[in-house]
Amino acid sequence: MAQAVLFTDTDFEQYRSLIYAESGIHFTPTNRSILESRLRERLREKGVDAPQTYFTMITRDKEELKVFLDSITTNLTQFFRNEAHFLTLEKFVVPELLNIKKQSGSNILKIWSAGCSTGEEPYSIAMLLSDILPYPWQFEIVASDISLKCLMIAREGFYMDKPLEKLPSGYLPKYFDKVVGGYKVKPEIRTKVRFDYHNLKNDSLLRNLDLVFCRNVIIYFDEAAQTSVIRRFWDSMAPKSFLFIGHSESLFGMDTQFEFVKTQWATLYRKFV
Ligand SMILES: C[S@@+](CC[C@H](N)C(=O)[O-])C[C@H]1O[C@@H](n2cnc3c(N)ncnc32)[C@H](O)[C@@H]1O
Repeated sequence: MAQAVLFTDTDFEQYRSLIYAESGIHFTPTNRSILESRLRERLREKGVDAPQTYFTMITRDKEELKVFLDSITTNLTQFFRNEAHFLTLEKFVVPELLNIKKQSGSNILKIWSAGCSTGEEPYSIAMLLSDILPYPWQFEIVASDISLKCLMIAREGFYMDKPLEKLPSGYLPKYFDKVVGGYKVKPEIRTKVRFDYHNLKNDSLLRNLDLVFCRNVIIYFDEAAQTSVIRRFWDSMAPKSFLFIGHSESLFGMDTQFEFVKTQWATLYRKFV
C-alpha cells in the first residue's frame, strides 16, 4: 500500500506563503486540509512523493506553478447564480448605464467578469443583455480566470444539466444548441465573450469599464489582497460604473471610494466620481 504523504507545519507555511504571494488566495490553519488534499492529488498526478520536492519544482517551473495554482482553486459556479444580481442588472444597472453612456455618445457597454470560472457567469450576462438591450446598443465582455482548465471549458461553451438549472425560461432553446450529451452555447453568444488568462494580483490593463462582476472570488483572499484587487478594479472602471461582488462578500471597513448601493433586488457598488 502506498504511504500517505507527510505534510509538516513547515510545508504548510511554505506552500501557503507561496500561494498567497502568487495569487492572493489565503489558506488558514482552518482550511489547511483542503490545501493538503489538493496538493496530495497533484503529487500523485506528478508521481512525486515529497511536498519539498514538488515545492522546489514549482519555484523553478512557472508553467507547473500555474497548474498547481489552478489545482487549488475552487471553481463552483452556475448560470444565473444569484438571480437577484441579474434582476438588479436588468432593472437598475442597465437603465442607469444607458442614460450615462447616451450623454457620452457611446453605444457600447464594456464589461469584465473577473474570476469567471467555467464561463457560466459571463455567458449569463451576455444572454441577458442580448435579450434586453435595445438597438443600437452593443456590449463586449472580457472574462478572465487564473484556472487554465476552467478557461478551456468556458471557451468550449459545452454544459450538461446541472449548471443550467437556473436558466430563465425560454433561454435554453434560444441561446443553446442541443448536442450529444448536453448543450452548447450558440456562437452569437460565444463570440460576445473573450476569455483571457489573468491573475487578479496583477493589473488587467483594462480601462473605462462600465460594469465589473467579481463574485465569490475575493472571499478566498485576506484583507490586504482584497484591498489591492478592489483598488485595481477602481482604476479599470469608468466614472459612474458598477461593481458586483458575491452576496457573502463585502467592502465594509475597507479603505475604498466605492459607494454602497442598495436596490430593491440586491446590493452592489458604484464608482461615483
Ligand atoms: C467560486 S469561482 C466563482 C465563479 C463566478 N464568479 C461565480 O460567482 O459563479 C472563483 C473563481 O475565482 C478564480 N480565482 C481565484 N483566485 C484568482 C486570482 N488570483 N486571479 C484570477 N482568478 C482567481 C478561481 O480560479 C475560480 O474559478
